[in-house]
Amino acid sequence: ARITLRQLLDHAASHGYAVPAFNINNMEQGIAIMQAAAEVDAPVIIQASRGARSYAGDLMLSHMIDALERTYPDIPLCMHQDHGNDEATCASAIAHGFTSVMMDGSLKADAKTAADYDYNVAITRRVVDLAHWVGASVEGELGVLGSLEHGGGEQEDGHGVEGKVSHDQLLTDPDQAVDFVRATKVDALAIAMGTSHGAYKFSRKPDGDILAMRVVEEIHRRLPNTHLVMHGSSSVPQPLQDMFNQFGGEMPQTWGVPVEEIVRGIKSGVRKVNIDTDCRLAMTAVFRKVAAQARSEFDPRKFLKPAMDAMRELCRERFEQFGTAGHA
Ligand code: G3H
Ligand code: 13P
Ligand code: NA
Ligand code: ZN
Repeated sequence: ARITLRQLLDHAASHGYAVPAFNINNMEQGIAIMQAAAEVDAPVIIQASRGARSYAGDLMLSHMIDALERTYPDIPLCMHQDHGNDEATCASAIAHGFTSVMMDGSLKADAKTAADYDYNVAITRRVVDLAHWVGASVEGELGVLGSLEHGGGEQEDGHGVEGKVSHDQLLTDPDQAVDFVRATKVDALAIAMGTSHGAYKFSRKPDGDILAMRVVEEIHRRLPNTHLVMHGSSSVPQPLQDMFNQFGGEMPQTWGVPVEEIVRGIKSGVRKVNIDTDCRLAMTAVFRKVAAQARSEFDPRKFLKPAMDAMRELCRERFEQFGTAGHA
């Protein structure tokens, strides 16, 4: 059954768990998530980026979600727009059956100028108004995703910000978070604590200098009733890096967000945890393995079925680690 982000995260907050939000672009990823959820009785957040919508097409994507919902009628399903960049993107997502949208008004902001902040408040507030009229939820974002380690921000597309900004400018400011939530009435707030999108988050296992979970704790202390969202939360597991490289991949050693740090966040109001890279890596490491080990194979299903299985395993693990399991 389709539910909103607000309904799901309210339930998660009252039971002390978080929900992983997995990105999809295709049928195999959708099936992997739903199979994992069904195995452990977890509610799901499926999210699609603007890139996913143009890759699959809105019609294909929305009918696929309908099919997943009907195939797994007992699994509560929130369909969410990841990193919406304007009102039109959010409105058209809702028109295609999304029950939740992210209005990322921080996308435009290279640094925390007052004008950037005012823009973010104004556009997020407009999206909240339109979404709430039709019963959909809204996630806003405040802060810049980007590496504290390298002293630079990134834009949400993973490209570096011109004229790098300081650590303090990357991290979400707790005072501003209080003001932003009050001014916009968002249902959930994405905050920046040092994570970034993609595989290359940290060049060592992160400590408090480069992964500032204290920011999450401080914002939760100030906004105890606000659902917090962690982006860039793939863990980039070593076994997946190893498999990818063992079969001809070239991924330099990298570190993601340790699951225990996410679990710490869940104790401080984190209710939605965005994961895309881990799912991509699980699937493509298996593609490489099949390509290397069955060199005459050309049936795509022989690649896609084990890739789907690997993603399903990854999703099930996160449902268990984040306490989502058992709450469907
Ligand atoms: O926001 C980042 C997500 O991983 C989606 O990535 O824009 O390549 O689909 P994408
Ligand atoms: P990862 O690249 O760490 O999986 O983050 C995904 C994300 O934040 C999507 O919005
Ligand atoms: Na941002
Ligand atoms: Zn993100």
